[in-house]
Formats: sequence, C-alpha cells, structure tokens
Amino acid sequence: MAQYTRVSGSVGLITLQSPRVNALSAAVRQGIVDMMQRALSEPEVKSVVICGQNGIFCGGADIKEFGKNMSGPPLIPMIHAIEAASKPVVAAIEGIALGGGLELALGCHYRIAHAKARVGLPEVTLGLLPAAGGSQRLPRLIGVPAALDLITTGRHVTAAEALKLGIVDQVTDHNTVNVAVKFAKRVAGQSLDPRRISTYPCPCPSDADALFEKAMQKVRRAARGAIAPVACVQAVRAAATLPYNQGMEREKELMATLFTSGQARALQYFFFAQRAVGKWSMPSGARWETSKPRPVHKAAVIGLGTMGRGITVALAQAGLSVVAVETQEKQLMEAKQAISGMLERGAKRSGVAPALDKVSYSHNIQPVADVDLVIEAVFEDMALKKKVFQQLSAVCKPGTFLCSNTSGLDIDHLACQTRNPELVVGMHFFAPAHVMKLLEVVYGPKSSPHAVATAMQLGKKIGKVSVAVGNCRGFVGNRMLKPYLEQALFLLEEGATPEFVDQVLEEFGFAMGVFRVSDLSGLDVGWRVRMADGLAQPDPTTGQPVRVRQGRRYSPLGDLLCEQGRFGQKTGRGWYQYDKPGSQVAKPDPWLHSFLDEYRTRHGLVARRIDHQEVLERCLYSLINEGFRILEDGIAAGPEDIDVIYVFGYSWPRHRGGPMFYAATVGLNKVLERLEHYHQAHPDVPSLQPCRLLRKLVAGGSPPIHKWREVIKKVHSQL
Ligand code: NAI
Repeated sequence: MAQYTRVSGSVGLITLQSPRVNALSAAVRQGIVDMMQRALSEPEVKSVVICGQNGIFCGGADIKEFGKNMSGPPLIPMIHAIEAASKPVVAAIEGIALGGGLELALGCHYRIAHAKARVGLPEVTLGLLPAAGGSQRLPRLIGVPAALDLITTGRHVTAAEALKLGIVDQVTDHNTVNVAVKFAKRVAGQSLDPRRISTYPCPCPSDADALFEKAMQKVRRAARGAIAPVACVQAVRAAATLPYNQGMEREKELMATLFTSGQARALQYFFFAQRAVGKWSMPSGARWETSKPRPVHKAAVIGLGTMGRGITVALAQAGLSVVAVETQEKQLMEAKQAISGMLERGAKRSGVAPALDKVSYSHNIQPVADVDLVIEAVFEDMALKKKVFQQLSAVCKPGTFLCSNTSGLDIDHLACQTRNPELVVGMHFFAPAHVMKLLEVVYGPKSSPHAVATAMQLGKKIGKVSVAVGNCRGFVGNRMLKPYLEQALFLLEEGATPEFVDQVLEEFGFAMGVFRVSDLSGLDVGWRVRMADGLAQPDPTTGQPVRVRQGRRYSPLGDLLCEQGRFGQKTGRGWYQYDKPGSQVAKPDPWLHSFLDEYRTRHGLVARRIDHQEVLERCLYSLINEGFRILEDGIAAGPEDIDVIYVFGYSWPRHRGGPMFYAATVGLNKVLERLEHYHQAHPDVPSLQPCRLLRKLVAGGSPPIHKWREVIKKVHSQL
C-alpha cells in the first residue's frame, strides 16, 4: 500500500507501507500508481516526495511474488511514468534503497539520502539482474566502470559513497523526509528534462571493448559457473552501446533467460534457507522463539593457535571483552602480535579504531573466572580437552557457558566433565575464524535450550551465519565430507589423478577441488585423527588386507603420503608439489603419479579410464547420501541447515543451492538409481548404500524440498 498526504501546502507525499522493508508488492505498486495520479492531478501540488514508512525507503521486489503470476501494475511502466511526470519527484531515502527500491529512486528526478542509508542493486545475488531499468539507468548516471562494479557484485554502498558516485544528490543527517520536502518545494517549476536519467547518453570510455572484455573475464573467474554476473555485464554493455529503448529490450531478454535457468531458483531458495536456519529447533521440541539467550559481555578463548586467534578477533571486533589464554609462552607472544595485527588491519578496512584494548592475555586459566562464556580451542585431543573442561568448570563463575571449537569430538564427553553439563555446547568455527561466515552450534543430549540460544545469538552478534546441529562424529559438515573424501581416494586407486578429480569438482563450481583443499588445510590433520582412531595402520591381529578396515574398503593413500612427510602446502609437497613450503601454487607432481602407479601394481589394481560423470556422481552423491542420513538421524532439522553449512563452510557453489537442493534438482530417483549402481559395483563401501530416507522420499514420489520435513517427521515417528 501507499499513503498520500499533502504537506507544506504544495508537496504530495507518498509513503510506501508494507512491513518490514516496504517491498514493491502488487499492493504497493498499485498504491504508487494511484497516488502519483492523484498528486499529478491536484493543481495545488507542485512537486512530489516518495518515502517509506518506519525509516525504510524500499527493500526492492517482493521475493514471495517470484515465480507466481504477476498481478497489479508492472514495475517498469510505473517507473517510466514517474520519470515522465510533469512535476518533480524526489526520493527520500532512509534505511535502504535496494534492488527495485533503488530502481524506483532512479526513476525519480532527485534523490536525497539519510547519512546512515545504504543503496545497491543486489539482484545478482538472487541469480537475476536489475531488470526494472536499473541496468540501463545506473551506467547512464554514474558511468560504466562504477555501474559494472555495483551491478555484478550486488554490493551495497553507504550514502557517502553513493553521493561520491553520483547516485544521490544530497546526504543529510536530519529528518530526510523534511529535507526532501523543502528540496521539492525549491525545485518545483524547474525544467525536468535534465533530470530524466533514461534520456542521458551513457558515459563510456573510448576503450569500451577492452573494458567489457576485462570485466567479462573477471566475473567469469569469480562466478564459478553462475550466469547472472555474466548477464549483468551484457546488460551494462547494452546500456553503453544501444539506445535506451533497445537496451531495455536486451535487459528484458537477459532477465527471461535468468528466470528460466534454474540458478535463480537455487539462489532464491538459498536466500530463504538462510532465514530458515535462524528459526532453529531441537529434537526435544525446544525452539528459537521459546528459548531465551543470556547476554554475553565478556568471553574467554582458551588456546591461541590458528583458530583461537581468529575467534578472539571476531569477538573483540564485535565489542566483547575477551580474556585470551595460551599456556605456551612463545605461542602467547606470537598470538598477541598476530591478533593485534588482525585487529588493526580489520579496523583500517572498516574505518574504525582497532579494538586492541578489548583483549587481555593470560598464560593461565584463572582470569576466566568472571566471564559469561568460554570458547575452548586447544589441540584436537580428547584427553586434553577433558582436562580443560574440568578446570573451566572449577574456575568459572556459576552460569558460565562452556563451548568447544572441536571439529568433531563428542560434545557430551566434554559436558560430562563439568558440574553443569547443560551449559556446554559446541561452537564450531571455520578457518580463518574471523573471516568465514559459518558457525555450527552443536547441542549435546544435555545442552539446555538457553545454551543453544546464547551461542546462536553470540554467533549473530559476531556476524556469523549460525546453524544449530546435533552431536555426532563430525557434526554435519565434516561428517558429510568423510564419504566425499573417501570416494576421491578410491577414484585415485582406480585410475584417476588428483588433477582430474579437482578439475571436475572445480568445473562444478567448488572454489577448490578436494585434493587442493586437503593440501591447503594440511594432510596431517586427518592423519592424526585416523591414528587416534586406530585406522591409520591395519590391525595386525585381524590379518585383514591393507585396504580394509573394520570390514570396509579403506584407502591408506593419505596415510602413506603423511608417512613421507607430505603434509600439503606447509611442507611444499602433498597431492601436488609447490615451489617451496607455504607456497600456494599447486603443480602436478610426477613423483605422485609414479607413486600411484606403484601403489596400484602393489595392490593388483588395474587403472581404468574414469570419466567426468563418475567423479562427480561418486563424490557428490555419497556426500548427499550422508546428508540424508543426517536428516534421518535428526542431526540437522531440515535440508536448509545442511545447504547453508555447505555453502558457507565448504564453498559449495551457491548458485546450485547446496547439496540437498542440488539432489532435488537432479531428481531424487536419479540420485538413488546412481547410488544403487555404484553400491553394486562397490559393495564394500557402505557410504554408497542409499539410505532409508532417500528411498522413502523416492517411494513417496520425490516431493519438493519444502515438503521433506513432513516425510522426515514421519520417519522419526516410526523409529
Ligand atoms: P593449533 O594447534 O593451531 O592451536 C592449539 C593451541 O592450543 C596451541 O597454541 C596450544 O599451545 C594451545 N593449548 C594447548 N593446550 C592448552 C591449554 N591447556 N590451555 C591453553 N592453550 C592450550 O590448533 P587449531 O588448528 O587452532 O585447532 C584448535 C581446535 O579447533 C581443535 O579442536 C581443532 O579441531 C578445531 N578446529 C580447527 C580448524 C582448523 O582449520 N585448524 C577448523 C575448525 C575447528
């Protein structure tokens, strides 16, 4: 809806009214059209101001309308009518003007923004382009390079930057609507011809071809197969090379392609999935609405290695006081320097003072006595972690939440070491912890809803996307990674090379293939865990073959590399070779290829030609199958939780929606049929055996992903 009032005698004020962000729903569009007509027909009205209620101009199109039959007046003619109006129209931008909201403002003759407002065209992040003239007006207003940057990245800009770029005409610290009304009165009667952006020529540098070629290369590299950023470049190119009307036609054509591509659907699903994970629930029935978080003002981090440093930075940057504890004197000194450096660099980037004084350091645990929450990040060693939790339980004030950053150890074992196991949860960050968006909040059987709510709230405060998950080996992310890694190793045994497997996965859209990632994170990490589990060496007492553990196929390839000191990038050798330790440029390694040949000969394996499809299906479908098991076990509440974890924590390409959405796109019957096929060929690999929930979903006619929760509930009730 839109409300109309006449203010200051001669200004028609149109206020968009649609909670929460005044999205351009059919009702709002109808309201704007009607109120514009009224303002233009009233002779006393000499100019018009458009604003939004509750301090928000407009958040853009109403996503809920996507994919449905459009009702109400279409956006493009509405914006054209505003631009063509005979009376000046001023946009009073408070809060946000995003997507269609900014396109509406660009159709106005003037734009006044509040100093705290942000504007942008984020359509690309939903697999679309600004198709209500945004791709044609913005380059005409601010030039091609700046428009390309904004439209292809979807980034939001502050009012100050918008003023500098020329998107807005004025920025104010005062009441924006009052300022806009005064402004509107002043410009009443002035010629509007110079204010209609669609009539502007597009300022384009002389080397336009080279500019667009470069832009195209850049977005193709970053897009990892996403087509919307490419279409955005094409649309801006149309603005630069075609008359406005033809440019609008091109914008429409490109948008039609994007709409039908499937990627837009995946990205829109993902948009809602991110919201869904905030509405967490536990199998006990505890839910986000009914579980109150406790305030956390002061926190402690125990262990200042790779993870502890990043976690300290993330907490301090969010304004929390942090007690940072490290027992090794040398590590403590190094950590102090590293943390200060990270805080200083971060502050410089965001133009604020570094939060150095928020962190106090200690080499013993005593100063954590008065903190509200502790995050333990010592070595991944259960005995050590148990000891630390016993100490924390003895030292901390009553009510302190005790959290572990373990990558996969049993949270319940840690909770059992404390006086109040209900206060213990996992807070599983991803490296680098101050950068990566994902946080898995892991509840054990004894964790209280308050503890989960507090960890989720803290995650939000420090800018993370937090997902609540149940307690099991590897939680959600690392548990699903296990069969994926396992398949990659089996494929090497059967004849593939690390380069080929990585190439297939990177073409699919992962930032890095499985072997490159292993080299980056260090092969020794998993090796130590396998050694602790007694897997890295065959058990001599059982007489089982080297490639079998606990009756299942096992590949010792990773263990053999570690025994040779090949830990990945850090040692300069892993699945690839590097110029020197620490270098990031991976090169195929002839040594590794002969090693694989010898290995196959030793074990009587005959290398065969493995194609692209087999790599993709075995790696991805085994991971997806584990995802279904996780849903069946109630470790994740729904497919959205898994998808958000995979996109934010494991670089799953966002335009494919996440592994569970991808499975739905491929077709659950196809995933089931291929898993059955591979399991028949490899009966000693249990992770390829299709799980019950997948079979159940297929038997139920493969319902759409938003209906899976109902089937999962039924499966749980039958257990
Ligand atoms: P790290 O080896 O870099 O650092 C561990 C630090 O803990 C060392 O500085 C050590 O001196 C210190 N420490 C050991 N005992 C201590 C004690 N009693 N009190 C205080 N400090 C103590 O290890 P990293 O990589 O930071 O891992 C820490 C935890 O985070 C592990 O549980 C790991 O599984 C988990 N994790 C690691 C990720 C990674 O990518 N490195 C990702 C996610 C979780």
